[in-house]
Amino acid sequence: MRILFLTHSFNSLAQRLHVELTRRGHELSVEFDINDQVAVEAVALFRPDLVVAPFLKRAIPEAVWSRHVCLVVHPGIVGDRGPSALDWAILEGEREWGVTVLQANEVMDGGPIWASRCFPMRGARKSSLYRNEVTEAAVAAVLEAVDKFAAGHVRPEPLDYGKPEVRGRARPLMTQEARRIDWQRDDTETVLRKIRSGDSFPGVLDRIAGGEYYLYNARPEGRLRGAPGSLIARRHGAILRGTRDGAVWITHVKPKADGGFKLPAASVLGEALGDVPALDLPVLPARDGETYQDIFYEEEWRDGVGIGYLHFDFYNGAMSTADCLRLRDAFAAAAAREIRVIVLMGGPDFWCNGIHLNVIEAAASPADESWANINAMDDLCLAILRAGRQLTIAALQGNAGAGGVFLALAADRVLARQGVILNPHYKGMGNLFGSEYWTYLLPKRVGAERAREITGNRLPLGAPEAQALGLIDDCFGADVPAFARGVRAAARELALRPDFEALLAAKRAGRERDEVEKPLARYREEELEHMKLNFYGFDPSYHVARYHFVHRVPHAWTPLHLARHRRRMWERQGMLKGREAVA
Ligand code: COA
Repeated sequence: MRILFLTHSFNSLAQRLHVELTRRGHELSVEFDINDQVAVEAVALFRPDLVVAPFLKRAIPEAVWSRHVCLVVHPGIVGDRGPSALDWAILEGEREWGVTVLQANEVMDGGPIWASRCFPMRGARKSSLYRNEVTEAAVAAVLEAVDKFAAGHVRPEPLDYGKPEVRGRARPLMTQEARRIDWQRDDTETVLRKIRSGDSFPGVLDRIAGGEYYLYNARPEGRLRGAPGSLIARRHGAILRGTRDGAVWITHVKPKADGGFKLPAASVLGEALGDVPALDLPVLPARDGETYQDIFYEEEWRDGVGIGYLHFDFYNGAMSTADCLRLRDAFAAAAAREIRVIVLMGGPDFWCNGIHLNVIEAAASPADESWANINAMDDLCLAILRAGRQLTIAALQGNAGAGGVFLALAADRVLARQGVILNPHYKGMGNLFGSEYWTYLLPKRVGAERAREITGNRLPLGAPEAQALGLIDDCFGADVPAFARGVRAAARELALRPDFEALLAAKRAGRERDEVEKPLARYREEELEHMKLNFYGFDPSYHVARYHFVHRVPHAWTPLHLARHRRRMWERQGMLKGREAVA
């Protein structure tokens, strides 16, 4: 079928549905929901059999839903309506939640229902639930709805609040008042729920040291305490505040003032933190379930053979210069241990999304900070590439984008959770050339021609597609715990292989051969020559794209690699030239 996505943005759920439906042979095109006229025009150009709205912030125009079946993905149980579905579910401590696929009509979220799925809730931030449970439920429900629609004879079920199984109800937009933290009264659990309900958007508005900030990414602290609301400590950008019965770490804040964007909390508060002690982590921190650690390490021994698991859970997968260097040092410390395999675990929500564009945007010289960040990222990749005493595994529990994908390729084996989405390209960020030794790593895995296609077409890849291309080695696991179990089994099998020493010797020999052919330093030098032009050259595209990305400037049009209906029209009119035409 021809399916048009009408969506506020091409977010992770839209990307995943795009991959799933394309895999099933449907022809897809995407239009951003900019205004009614644009939506109507998109439908006229593409003439879809079906419209799917994975992520919308406003109603579909009547001119579209009255002529086409439009399936809307609502992140709520049957009967739930309103723009803060997950926010309320988290704040009110729902034990089970769900996703409903309904048909758009004149009642917002009130149309007849094509499919729905439920899932148990988890104590996690909204964006984590969205990227995991909601996404999996939405994929299952959308695929069911699309199949039913294709069958032709199935009709959706009208929403009937009289039915006992319809538990949802209409709820308003959640205000800051509903989320407001009362530091004197709220216990840790309540503070966590409030911050999680608004993470990643809009955050919980609060006052710290006289300023107004939105708070993000709260983590419980099990040992340290302080007066409710007081600042107790800082750790690598995070701050620790007392609650009525304990304390919570808050890793990111956004100043309320115009133009504010999310940054590590301690860097925003700066001098306002006064003499709050820095409780930074050691180089290779052992897992400690009682406190917040963005990097931690575990070791497992079987039959005298050791495996190291290095976890790095950076908010949104963005890695600043300091993050990259700390991770490089942690990796080097792990590599100095007498273990056979190092598994790079990333975090449960993201593997890595490359250099930290927000920290770069906030720097006095964004060009200098971009340069420092990409060099630190390269240093990390180099440490992994040069690890000659272990075999390394990159285990992608969550999505990866841009340099984050190529960081994974620095490992000897790359494994991904089945539902992971990869964006192995840099072009979207103002035509950035990219580094992370990708000019070495990518063609080595997939060949030169496929490397060009992958980086040029700018589309997301599902894990199975990435495996078919040779970009990754394997994918499995319906969810994060299942994937993590599979990764541990794979790591053990590798570490205990009778021919382990031969494998290691072959790895070292291969690296030496490649080094003779072309040294890693040369790949890096060549990539960084391009990056220097991106950062310091006359063309400001990267700086403009980064500004738009960080400041969330609304889309004014849909890029042509997504809006195939528009691309076709431009092609027909002979208006695509040069780079656009081949991209
Ligand atoms: N630096 C800072 N923040 C980043 C980031 C980065 N490199 N990559 C993603 N984020 C943030 C987003 O701003 C967003 O923040 P929010 O919590 O305030 O909404 C969050 O991570 C999720 O990103 P989003 O774009 O909504 O996720 P997605 O799944 O829809 O898209 C990507 C994934 C990778 C396509 C997209 O995030 C992206 O293009 N990131 C930039 C990649 C890049 O160019 N890196 C630099 C070159 S190495």
